[in-house]
Amino acid sequence: TKVTIIGATGRVGQYAALSISRIPYIREIQLYGRDGSQSLLDGITRDLIDSFAATGTASVVRWSCDLADMKGSDVVIITAGVARKPNQDRLDLAHENAKIVADLSKQVQMFAPESMIMMVTNPVDIMTSVALRYSGKKPHQVFGLGTHLDSMRLKSLIASFFQVHVSEVHTRIIGEHGESMVPLWSATTIGGIQISNLPSFGNLPIDDIMGKVRSSGQQIIASKGATVWGPGDAIATIIKTLLGNENRILTLSAYVKSEVHNIGDVCIGVPARINKDGVFPVSIRLDPLEVHAFQRSVERIRGLTNQILK
Ligand code: NAI
Repeated sequence: TKVTIIGATGRVGQYAALSISRIPYIREIQLYGRDGSQSLLDGITRDLIDSFAATGTASVVRWSCDLADMKGSDVVIITAGVARKPNQDRLDLAHENAKIVADLSKQVQMFAPESMIMMVTNPVDIMTSVALRYSGKKPHQVFGLGTHLDSMRLKSLIASFFQVHVSEVHTRIIGEHGESMVPLWSATTIGGIQISNLPSFGNLPIDDIMGKVRSSGQQIIASKGATVWGPGDAIATIIKTLLGNENRILTLSAYVKSEVHNIGDVCIGVPARINKDGVFPVSIRLDPLEVHAFQRSVERIRGLTNQILK
């Protein structure tokens, strides 16, 4: 099993490499960096090898500045691009990063036609559509980190409010990885119990919690420069689910066909079944308020995506 990371000298790419190396059946990790980053790539690789030795990890890691070395990859993860600066909207980045992602996606299709693409670069929903278009791959082979991490942030805030173990909480945020994200209270359970059936549900400060989820990334960027461990481990969870053929349902950015309620024809955060064949959105019934909010999020992302792709 081979995973390539494009953008491996970046903060998210480096930590994703470490986190992915802990997945037992990942044999080969290929790090790609641009010409000029040879010394940095060499250092990252040596440091990883030391970490493998310390933890008894059997993975092999290699680095290269030649994209042809991604040949034979099962998944290519793209974290390359310009990172969001403090107070910068994710959408300001779109034009700049779309050029980088379009070019890389064509090269992935050229050198690793069988591989899937996992998009991390922001704005991730739009970049997932760019990768889908320019790679020419099938929709189930191209997906983005999407609202998985947002869902995890909500999960941990709910667990802490109700003072339960985080594994007892199941929840999802769908839509844009950004302002218009939509929490699905209708799909939120604690210990298998629908959250709205809990007597204390009325005490949950929903607006406050969603404010925290929405600003979490920006706050981390403002204080330590970048979000790293959250996204890196979220990436590794998704890769493990995919290559381990686990059939888990996680909330990723994936292409949704145009369906009812004018929702679709764009890549956006939705619950999706993930296995070795790829990523397959799962249709679910939502509350009317959730449908409305999701429609707005889809329209926003579809409008921006169309501007970028035209
Ligand atoms: P970084 O600045 O540390 O790393 C960016 C990497 O991209 C560097 O290795 C750089 O050399 C490379 N790069 C830049 N232009 C390139 C090009 N034309 N071709 C190839 N490589 C190129 O940024 P960081 O913090 O690692 O973030 C990476 C991306 O991931 C950003 O777009 C960031 O917004 C996004 N991100 C997305 C998250 C999500 O939930 N979807 C979470 C965290 C980060």
